[in-house]
Amino acid sequence: SRLEMFVDELPDMPKIQGFHVVSGVLKSKSLKIGMFKKKWKFHRDLPPTPVFAYGLTKDTATVPGPTIEALHGVDTYVTWRNHLSRKHILPWDPTIPTAMPANKKGIPTVVHLHGGIDEPESDGNSNSWFTSGFKARGPTWTKKKYHYHNQQHPGNLWYHDHAMGLTRINLLAGLIGAYIIRHPDVETPLGLPSGDEFDRPLIVFDRGFRTDGSIYMNSTGNNPSIHPQWQPEYFGDAIIVNGKAWPRMTVRRRKYRFRIINASNARFFRFFFTNGLRFIHVGSDSAYLNEPVTTNEILLGPSEITDVVVDFSMSENDSAILANNASYPYPSGDPVNEVNSKVVKFDILNHQEIDTWRVPKKLIEYPAPSLSSVSRTRYIAMYEYTSDIDEPIHLYLNGKPYEAPVTETPRVGTTEIWNIINLTEDNHPLHIHLGLFKTLDQTGLVNLEEFKSCMTKINNAIKCQISKHARGKKIEVLAHEKGWKNVYKMTPGVVTRILVKFSYIHSNASYAFDATSEPGYVYHCHILDHEDNVMMRPLKFLN
Ligand code: C2O
Ligand code: CU
Repeated sequence: SRLEMFVDELPDMPKIQGFHVVSGVLKSKSLKIGMFKKKWKFHRDLPPTPVFAYGLTKDTATVPGPTIEALHGVDTYVTWRNHLSRKHILPWDPTIPTAMPANKKGIPTVVHLHGGIDEPESDGNSNSWFTSGFKARGPTWTKKKYHYHNQQHPGNLWYHDHAMGLTRINLLAGLIGAYIIRHPDVETPLGLPSGDEFDRPLIVFDRGFRTDGSIYMNSTGNNPSIHPQWQPEYFGDAIIVNGKAWPRMTVRRRKYRFRIINASNARFFRFFFTNGLRFIHVGSDSAYLNEPVTTNEILLGPSEITDVVVDFSMSENDSAILANNASYPYPSGDPVNEVNSKVVKFDILNHQEIDTWRVPKKLIEYPAPSLSSVSRTRYIAMYEYTSDIDEPIHLYLNGKPYEAPVTETPRVGTTEIWNIINLTEDNHPLHIHLGLFKTLDQTGLVNLEEFKSCMTKINNAIKCQISKHARGKKIEVLAHEKGWKNVYKMTPGVVTRILVKFSYIHSNASYAFDATSEPGYVYHCHILDHEDNVMMRPLKFLN
């Protein structure tokens, strides 16, 4: 029998402050956040589900984890502690490159603060994993206590697991949470909806469940003779927001701010309101937009973050459903069905009230990208390697596995242009650690098959005459996606040109840390099943 929708209240995750106020003075804070195995109620009528959850204690651990609220200019330190002692709750696959403790005991985990501009030692490199009590450690593990500088602009980040080959199942199990950097001096004057009632993170993901409540994940791969379990994309039919399946929320006829994070493994969402309410975008990923942009819908790939204001006083009805119509896989997979097309229901109170929140014409201005400062142009090709039964074996960037020697070695403080060439049929959300980028343009590739066969042979975009092939249709970059981002959707059959800035974006000053130190950073596709096998490459900075 199908779970009834809109019966659970939309929860707010517990909040943890990443700073202290000691006699009126702001001080940095050291937190200890654990990863616990426990049970979590995803729905009124579903038995409790075994999960992995972040929290200060096992009792208070939640899925998603607590929202960490940091302050611009105040350091936050976190010791992430793994308390997962037994076997994984989900099936995994040792035939893809996977973190593996020598004693075969425990579950490797490592935490990445997504969108954070932080030192490599605290960036959660996939090979810096550790097991319970730090008993086993990955080859690039360096320290227990992570240092988050919080010196970047205010905005939305999230923390999640990043262990080699286990990211897709560690996140599926529940290891995700929101992290907000606030900067009251510049944000309060904007007058945007604020406070716990009107400013809410919404962490959205899809899951499948068995009738006993446990998370369903396939235990047999599409290509079992090569990968016994790995599948190219995980999809579930239940849509979960802040840890509840299809929740409901009563709202007043006022403006609300929603910071929406797509924490799915592979599902894209195209959000819209069934009653025509609109989204006023104020931010994208970790950055504010220069000015607000209003749209009817939002396409959000895995790990993209959108920051929107919704004005419920504009509603002609007393309820609105936030719905989804993105096919899966995106764009050429199945259309949504009755179940995975619904997200949250808002019941709108009738009483008209005075709204003191506003959306100003100007938000926060970031340094403009300057093409004259570009020091290097790179070509990054996305490939899918299929077997004779036409199922993917693995996905690589530039035809290289993760372990192949580093090829992307930007100099600290520089700006580069990356041409991302998508030779597959799927849209891949590309994420670059440390960098912030702007999407400049997107151009269709002509004679794609010819170009692809050349690339497959010699893997050199220039020799394969990219300039002759990048002559197709131009796809417009939407106004709300023209700001600084750390993830962008790479359209299939298209070369997407991005301008990446590898300098500290707030003041253009240099980093407050050594970005060149080990173990360096990574960039990857944020479809987690792709990232794990292994659509990820190292990123190493030079001075
Ligand atoms: Cu959100 Cu490298 O990850
Ligand atoms: Cu991908």
